[in-house]
Amino acid sequence: MTAQIISGTEIRKAILGEIKEEVDQMKEKHGKVPGLVTILVGSSPASISYVTLKVKTAISLGFHEIQDDQPEDISEKDLLALIDKYNNDPDIHGILVQLPLPKHIDDKKVLNAINPDKDVDAFHPVNVGRLMIGGDEVKFLPCTPAGIQEMIVRSGTETSGAEVVVVGRSNIVGKPIAMMMAQKGVGANATVTIVHTRTKDLASHCKRADILVVAAGVPDLVKPEWIKPGATVIDVGVNRVGMNEQTGKAILKGDVDFDAAKEIAGKITPVPGGVGPMTIAMLMKNTLRSAKLSLGID
Ligand code: GUN
Repeated sequence: MTAQIISGTEIRKAILGEIKEEVDQMKEKHGKVPGLVTILVGSSPASISYVTLKVKTAISLGFHEIQDDQPEDISEKDLLALIDKYNNDPDIHGILVQLPLPKHIDDKKVLNAINPDKDVDAFHPVNVGRLMIGGDEVKFLPCTPAGIQEMIVRSGTETSGAEVVVVGRSNIVGKPIAMMMAQKGVGANATVTIVHTRTKDLASHCKRADILVVAAGVPDLVKPEWIKPGATVIDVGVNRVGMNEQTGKAILKGDVDFDAAKEIAGKITPVPGGVGPMTIAMLMKNTLRSAKLSLGID
């Protein structure tokens, strides 16, 4: 039987609708809206397109949005001063510095300069530590893992006691999603295994998974025979495998052989239209949360 497709595009729409409602209520009751600043250094086309989408989404939700573009040659000192300015701006609840930064800037220094309570990417070590502790300690979840967890929950996948196998150990996806799913709580309480490039037998681990999360960055890495029948498969891979000559757009492929996998999995995310669209929605959710925390209403 063909798997149920978990559409990130549809879930994002629902989440943005929920956020908009809360923003409207916040404005009415408290005379405030969430404030987000996006800082883009330089003019990489990929970064421009990501930031443009973030800005558009924030504006569509009624956020106070500042798009603070900076030249490629801004000094590290000036960038740190800019972050300090927004750290002290009461109308700004979220600070997003688009990565990657130019080589002359130490990105770790920049990310660590963001006030952890405005770190809506959840990249600051304080937020990574809060995630590790779990429970009430957590202010923001990193956006892509948070999107993955939302998709798992909203697709009705049982996580409690489930075998979750995470392929990939990056700081942005693999490690945090594994930690989140092993915690107590909704969309969690799972038994989690992380596998990676040095794992001896990837296939045998994947075959055990009730929920398989693949964030390896290798097109078609996961073969259909590695998937347990009925499993939920979350494909985080976004691999550019060519160019559509007619549209001029990149051809994207996930880390899972989707066409074959959908005949075995119970639920599966497509690429594109799966995890990708969720990330910005979760960034908006974090910014709303930050605004609520600052107003003492969360
Ligand atoms: N560059 C690519 N993805 C991201 C992201 O999620 N956050 C930031 N800040 N930069 C990025």
